[in-house]
Amino acid sequence: MERSYRVRRSCLSVPASSERFIASARGVPADEVFLDLEDSVAPGAKEAARDQAAAALSSGDWGTRIVGARINDASTPWAFADVLAVVCARLDVIVLPKVRSARDVVWLDVLLGQIEASRGLPAGQIGIEAQIEDAPGLASVAAIAEASPRLAALVFGPADFMASVGMRSLEVGEQPAGYVGGDAYHYALMRILVAARASGLQAIDGPYLRVRDVPGFRRSAVSAAALGYDGKWVLHPAQVDVANSVFAPSAEEFQRASRIIEAYEAATSVERRGAVMLGDEMIDEASRKLALSVVARGRAAGL
Ligand code: GLV
Ligand code: MG
Repeated sequence: MERSYRVRRSCLSVPASSERFIASARGVPADEVFLDLEDSVAPGAKEAARDQAAAALSSGDWGTRIVGARINDASTPWAFADVLAVVCARLDVIVLPKVRSARDVVWLDVLLGQIEASRGLPAGQIGIEAQIEDAPGLASVAAIAEASPRLAALVFGPADFMASVGMRSLEVGEQPAGYVGGDAYHYALMRILVAARASGLQAIDGPYLRVRDVPGFRRSAVSAAALGYDGKWVLHPAQVDVANSVFAPSAEEFQRASRIIEAYEAATSVERRGAVMLGDEMIDEASRKLALSVVARGRAAGL
């Protein structure tokens, strides 16, 4: 099944153990909402949360947004039953946490194929978003990105990543105090981004835990967007509008990209030149490619 580009500027994580949060998530204008069965749910509440997620996913109105569920990771005793419970006609994607090797993704791919076939769902309906959040996952990220045609995105998990590599900070998403090298997440973010793009996937940045610090969230989102990321997790409604605007091109960027495409089109087809001036800037084929990606993202975001 061919996966079309669906906008993921804001991906809202909702603890599936909370009926109240699930109900309010339906009205939040996030591009994606996923019900979490993993780290926001206590071990003793896993089974009840799973039932609640299954009921919520298959009933009520979720609009046209991407709807997902984060299951427990492939090494846990819950993972298999989580998948069986959450798959339904409205489910677009499973978020698979703590992906450490391509095997984890292949396991989920095969299981989803069996469930789709046995329930009469379209083959390949359910996509996968793989969370890269520890040292083994980052070391294998290129193989993970190629592991299944169901993959839609790679997602950075800063909290687990910080724990995995021993980063000395408890402020998830913020720079560790004392670090003088610039952005402490840059290597992981860039490596995930390159692996994602090499396999035609989206790249999504993870959560910023100080949910009341909206300027801090904005800083983190602007930085990921500048690098090339498609979107970011959001944990609170206050973060949603910020993510939606930060990860969409501005109207000016969109217009400028459209002008570059037009000018380059005219230059190459009418004047038969490969590089031309647009205002003070020289543009060529690479500028056109950049402009096309800005226009595609702008269109996906409704510009
Ligand atoms: C998200 O799952 C994270 O670990 O940051
Ligand atoms: Mg995590």
